[in-house]
Amino acid sequence: MCLRTCVGLMVLVVAMMAGMAKAESNNAKVSYDATARVFRLDADRVSYVFGVNENDQLQTLYWGSKLAEGDSFKRAHSARGTSSFDPSVNATLQEYLGWGGGAYVEPDLKVTFPDGNRDLVLHYVSHHIEGNGLTIVVKDISRNIFVTLAYEMDAKTGVLARSAKIENRTSAPLTIEQASAATWNLPGDADYQLYYLTGRWAGEWNLQHQAILPGKTVLESRRGSTGDETNPWFAIERGTSADEDMGEVWFGALGWSGSWQIAVEQGSERQVRVTGGFTPFDFAYRLAPGGALETPKFYAGYSREGVGGASRLLHQFELGSVVPGAPRNHVRPVIYNSWEATGFEVNEAGQEALAERAASIGVERFVMDDGWFGERKNDTAGLGDWEVNSAKFPHGLSPLIGKVHSLGMDFGLWVEPEMINRDSELYRKHPDWVLGFPGRPQTEARHQLVLNLARPDVRAYVYEFLDKLLSTYDIAFLKWDYNRNWSEPGWPAVAPEDQKKVYVDYVRNLYGILADLRAKHPKVEIESCSGGGARVDLGIIHYTDEVWPSDNTDPFDRLSIQNGFTYAYAPRLMMAWVTDSPNWVNRRSTSLEYRFLSSMQGGLGIGANLNGWTEDDFKVAKKMVEQYKQIRATVQNGALYRLISPLGGSEWSVTESVSSDRRDAVVFAFLHSSQMGHAYPRVFPRGLDQRATYRVHALDGQLTSDSATVASGEYWMHNGLSIDLRGDFQAAVVTLVEEEAHR
Ligand code: DGJ
Repeated sequence: MCLRTCVGLMVLVVAMMAGMAKAESNNAKVSYDATARVFRLDADRVSYVFGVNENDQLQTLYWGSKLAEGDSFKRAHSARGTSSFDPSVNATLQEYLGWGGGAYVEPDLKVTFPDGNRDLVLHYVSHHIEGNGLTIVVKDISRNIFVTLAYEMDAKTGVLARSAKIENRTSAPLTIEQASAATWNLPGDADYQLYYLTGRWAGEWNLQHQAILPGKTVLESRRGSTGDETNPWFAIERGTSADEDMGEVWFGALGWSGSWQIAVEQGSERQVRVTGGFTPFDFAYRLAPGGALETPKFYAGYSREGVGGASRLLHQFELGSVVPGAPRNHVRPVIYNSWEATGFEVNEAGQEALAERAASIGVERFVMDDGWFGERKNDTAGLGDWEVNSAKFPHGLSPLIGKVHSLGMDFGLWVEPEMINRDSELYRKHPDWVLGFPGRPQTEARHQLVLNLARPDVRAYVYEFLDKLLSTYDIAFLKWDYNRNWSEPGWPAVAPEDQKKVYVDYVRNLYGILADLRAKHPKVEIESCSGGGARVDLGIIHYTDEVWPSDNTDPFDRLSIQNGFTYAYAPRLMMAWVTDSPNWVNRRSTSLEYRFLSSMQGGLGIGANLNGWTEDDFKVAKKMVEQYKQIRATVQNGALYRLISPLGGSEWSVTESVSSDRRDAVVFAFLHSSQMGHAYPRVFPRGLDQRATYRVHALDGQLTSDSATVASGEYWMHNGLSIDLRGDFQAAVVTLVEEEAHR
């Protein structure tokens, strides 16, 4: 006892003598070398190091593979300016740059003071270390504008969360015109490649890939919400060749569901820096004396295992630290959704008939989509009036919910809380509740306008109707839809100089409503849907259990949509429905088995019109749902390997999921169409335990006869699997299960 205490004290004394302060928590460590003025964060396989330089600027020193305990850094020194045209401030790798003092690179913070001064130079003031977290206060050289920079490193993945809180401690209001969460400086190197995701409605999640050259690539949404045009995610790979499995990759994602920007810039000294936060476009946030603005979190990490490794780390981080209830390792239920079957034509008898059929194939959650409320005959009316339509449901929703429960399923309901049709009671009562500029046109999209959720009365209305629904009915799940972006984003009820706060306050209120609902109804789960995948980001994922990646349910298109999605987001978050064939998007016909296998790579849903199914369809569906339930824990929570990409017109695509204990793996293989009689390529699984023995089983008997059925992980990973797929739109699923005896 004395020995332990004495040794502990000695260590403390030695650390203090060396001028070191350290905090350790769950294998993440934050330390500060007071002599060199260097901060260091370590976790998993990552180190992040920065210091205070001779000008009191915070300067990045290192971000990458974990360094040895004893590796130390000298005091940071600002870079020299190269000429009268390029002052030092642009070449110095600053952690958080105020716009001032000759800065031309993308700043983190830009303000205007009431006297017209727009110069802002931020210097280190103090810091505080607690657990995995570090906060650093910086301040303008003369004015009382303070910024608290927060750093928190995830112990399991080394993903670092950064954000900034800007405070006005002067005696007059000031206006923030640009505020980012963080700047990430990459190691000095000329050769980097950028990956990002773009799309549009029914065509989301396209992976883009380009060399980073001098200049700036701006990823952005000006839409008021995340948007599907570009997703707030990036990955940057070192070198000139793209590699899924190898190579150094730095990646990041913004936790924000409003307008945003990520600027990837190669400056004149060829340093690459990534700055992200609120988009500066149409941005202004007036801070009264004593006021503060907090930015979203900007998360970033590092992998040595290519873009595939970066995705796996991000998935692990999302499921382990971001989603509600994290790190709960549950599985998503198999759902049925009525939208593609009945559209707006929902009623008690029709939904009950669908529910009976859904239950017969093993569905666990029945979700009634749009059409159940107000005068919602089509998309021109009813949004805003969240009373049950009494012609469609004369006794309210209780009979349907009771029926669904009696069939062994729980019940989910569609809502679109932030929108309003002009043809609604709510609009007739509160025309002033929408976003808009007085006397100007208000652009409708899908016949709807956007409620201004930044208004306290709108926030209260939305919370109250949802709380009432969830308190009245036994609802397990809300599908929260959002079917347009903003236009004319005016907020006439507040002073003109405060109107642009709508970009921040709207999203904060959205998060507030979600948080309050979850606190009051802790068993209710929520899906984020925005006409598909237009509101998917780490901000909304903190409050929702799953997302709808796309309205496009064509099972072949879905292979590339789902592939793109997984670069940034975990398969468990991704709902995928089996719908009717030919599919409405491309009029493409595919077998029910193919449709199931395409959808079984995420959270499985059925969205087909079950009234049109044959007895055989029900048999196939029942079998596929049973098979899915056997593999879903591995598919939803396992490590994903994209073995063969569907991109670039590939005939084939293959994914593999490996359980965290590496005892199970599931391989999905898809063939577009055979050509010239060529065989399907051999498939080389990854991530298995090389010394363990695995039994291979093809759920639909598709393996060729020359394959072994029991062999080592080494064998499967290096000799590969032979999968016999021929024809058009064929698919197979293969499991590898570790043999008990060989553990
Ligand atoms: C768009 C969603 O993405 C669909 O799944 C469906 O819920 C419709 N809205 C309903 O209006």
